[in-house]
Amino acid sequence: MQTISIKASTSYEAHIGHGILASCGELVSRISEPCTIAVITDSTVGPLYEETVKISLTEAGFRVVTHSIPSGESSKNLFFYGEILEFLASSKLTRSDLLIALGGGVVGDITGFAAATYLRGIGFIQIPTTFLAAADSSTGGKTAVNLSCGKNLAGAFWPPRAVICDCATFDTLPKDTFADGVAETIKHSLIADKAFFELLMQGHLYSRIEDVVRRDMEIKRDFVSSDEFDRGRRQMLNFGHTIGHAVEMRSGFAITHGHAVAIGMVSAARAAYRLGYSQNDFSSIISEALQRYGLPVESPYRADELIEIASGDKKRSGDHINVIVLSDIGRANSVSLDMTQFESFIQQGVGV
Ligand SMILES: NC(=O)c1ccc[n+]([C@@H]2O[C@H](COP(=O)([O-])OP(=O)(O)OC[C@H]3O[C@@H](n4cnc5c(N)ncnc54)[C@H](O)[C@@H]3O)[C@@H](O)[C@H]2O)c1
Ligand SMILES: [Zn+2]
Repeated sequence: MQTISIKASTSYEAHIGHGILASCGELVSRISEPCTIAVITDSTVGPLYEETVKISLTEAGFRVVTHSIPSGESSKNLFFYGEILEFLASSKLTRSDLLIALGGGVVGDITGFAAATYLRGIGFIQIPTTFLAAADSSTGGKTAVNLSCGKNLAGAFWPPRAVICDCATFDTLPKDTFADGVAETIKHSLIADKAFFELLMQGHLYSRIEDVVRRDMEIKRDFVSSDEFDRGRRQMLNFGHTIGHAVEMRSGFAITHGHAVAIGMVSAARAAYRLGYSQNDFSSIISEALQRYGLPVESPYRADELIEIASGDKKRSGDHINVIVLSDIGRANSVSLDMTQFESFIQQGVGV
């Protein structure tokens, strides 16, 4: 097992290992006295892993209650958020009790938001079971639910008290769901660590999965710790996300987040070179890395189909939009574009 410390407004540890779900009780007892723990999971993950977690927590002296939401993005909404809060209240959780998010990013985000708001905030622990949740959403402290007008529109910054990542849980993931995490991992390498990119390029992701998750968490930590509330450096983590989000939305979410970000990264690299924001064209090498792991690299949509959607991006400030470009593999910076430049960025990125 590997353990890293993450310093945010509160500090916490992330444990990464193989088969560590069965010792989660011991890991939780390092940060909490015996208390009641509400394990929130979903209808796919629950039958696979809830029992192991429950047994381990009970053996460590915790009282465990469990609650499940239907699996999938469509559950990350106010209805199920309300249902979780009602469940916590009816289970009589107090501020010294804990929540556990056992699942992917959906369970992590909605449970985190419930933890941030129940009794004005109680502690929670992330047990990510998708590669994406391990590599990205379980650290960083962003929690959210979707509103009918858009994704993640209601939420809070609420860091977990611990993260427990058992890479053995990835064995049951569908291939495409696993690949979503690969896209964010390749993104981390592109914005921060050339040697990490080379390791991924050589195909070592599967054999070195624990090291990979650790490096993902470290890179994210380093961007987030200098900018917890997302006002500057943290924006580098949005590399590939402006065009990516537009592709994801245009597809009605049929193209999942990581797959859309893969397309977004290749498009952003191509556009940045063509428009002179990057000295080199990194689009081919990025494509090669992504395709190695079965990810798509070209937008199925035309630029004009994406421009309107992308112009409404949350990251917009006034009449300018910041996009992230690479100055080298392992180095990113932000450029501020007016709307005309932004349209050319998308046109050059995905072809007219
Ligand atoms: N908070 C953040 O910083 C942040 C960052 C990135 C993404 N997100 C959010 O994360 C969500 C996407 O996360 P995700 O891709 O993990 O989606 P998800 O939670 O919906 O999981 C994907 C699917 O895999 C299933 N699953 C989970 N673990 C499994 C396992 N071990 N074996 C078999 N099936 C399993 C789930 O039931 C679901 O059907 C989005 O809502 C996104 O907005 C949040
Ligand atoms: Zn992302």
